[in-house]
Amino acid sequence: MDTIILGIESSCDDTSAAVIKNGVLLSSVIASQAVHESYGGVVPELASRAHQQNIVPVVHEALKRAGVAKEELSAIAFTRGPGLMGSLLVGVSFAKGMARSLGIPMVDVNHLQGHVLAHFIKESADDNDKPEYPFLCLLVSGGNSQIIRVNAYNDMQVLGQTIDDAAGEAIDKCSKVMGLGYPGGPIIDRLARQGNPNAYTFSKPHIPGFDYSFSGLKTSFLYSLREWVKEDPDFVEHHKEDLAASLEKTIVDILMDKLRKVVKETGITQVAVAGGVSANNGLRNAYREHAQKYGWKIYIPKFGYTTDNAAMIAITGYYKFLDKDFCSIDKPAYSRVTIK
Ligand code: KG4
Repeated sequence: MDTIILGIESSCDDTSAAVIKNGVLLSSVIASQAVHESYGGVVPELASRAHQQNIVPVVHEALKRAGVAKEELSAIAFTRGPGLMGSLLVGVSFAKGMARSLGIPMVDVNHLQGHVLAHFIKESADDNDKPEYPFLCLLVSGGNSQIIRVNAYNDMQVLGQTIDDAAGEAIDKCSKVMGLGYPGGPIIDRLARQGNPNAYTFSKPHIPGFDYSFSGLKTSFLYSLREWVKEDPDFVEHHKEDLAASLEKTIVDILMDKLRKVVKETGITQVAVAGGVSANNGLRNAYREHAQKYGWKIYIPKFGYTTDNAAMIAITGYYKFLDKDFCSIDKPAYSRVTIK
């Protein structure tokens, strides 16, 4: 019998639904929320309202594109956390209601586990380019910067993580103070392509072990910028490409320095990257350079699976479904937790 999973993701500002049949992706629909742009960041209340408007049409569209009737579904997988509570509640409540009305199991998914397992999304039956266990995964998003040892789909160990800001958060905040817009990641990425990465030097953290820190870099960036703007009010306009390239290089160096350390210590040379910041070209290039120089086998997700999406939730749900790891209706959404 076919196993058909509907995945639902609503943890932040993207409403997404995807359908996976026997492990192969049939459809993936994402409605992003433009409403936050003018605020320079996600406004939680607006996000949950937009999810409420989007959820029905997005799920409908995902089923339609997949050519699957809701009665054919085996289970519904949904992001239970971590994320914004109001946003999560929309997806969680919808998924529970739909699963209950169809009389099928519900499968709860940890959003971060989903990001890591995005590497297992198959676009066709013969798409088998996936990491083998154990592998390392650098998970870098707006809310997380972690190095994870992945022993199995349901056995992940965080070896290091940020003690303050996440890498994406640092990029977004620096972009915001430069007045470049939100979200900063894609803007910095684009500008950095035209700038000199060695034009400016920003401070790098000295944190022992495998942990990260990005708040010092953010502060150093802010102070330097303030001084430069005092001298030349149009400083950002004149130097935005070099600023973006230097900031990006600093962040990529910080991320890769720790990752090299972990690879050296664990001896694991299969190294994946996941999360919104993994869309960054500088980081992707650094991965390719490391693969060449150190013989790493690297796994870089397709652009569409870097930021929040329901395909990664559906594939995680698929594995949990095969293990009959279901969720009961009384399990609430949770806003905070990392992979344990
Ligand atoms: O994984 P994600 O979509 O959401 C979270 O769960 O946090 O990641 C969003 C983060 C934002 O900080 C955004 O600026 C960053 O990913 N991002 C990028 C790029 N595209 C998105 N950062 C650097 N370069 C990019 N091309």
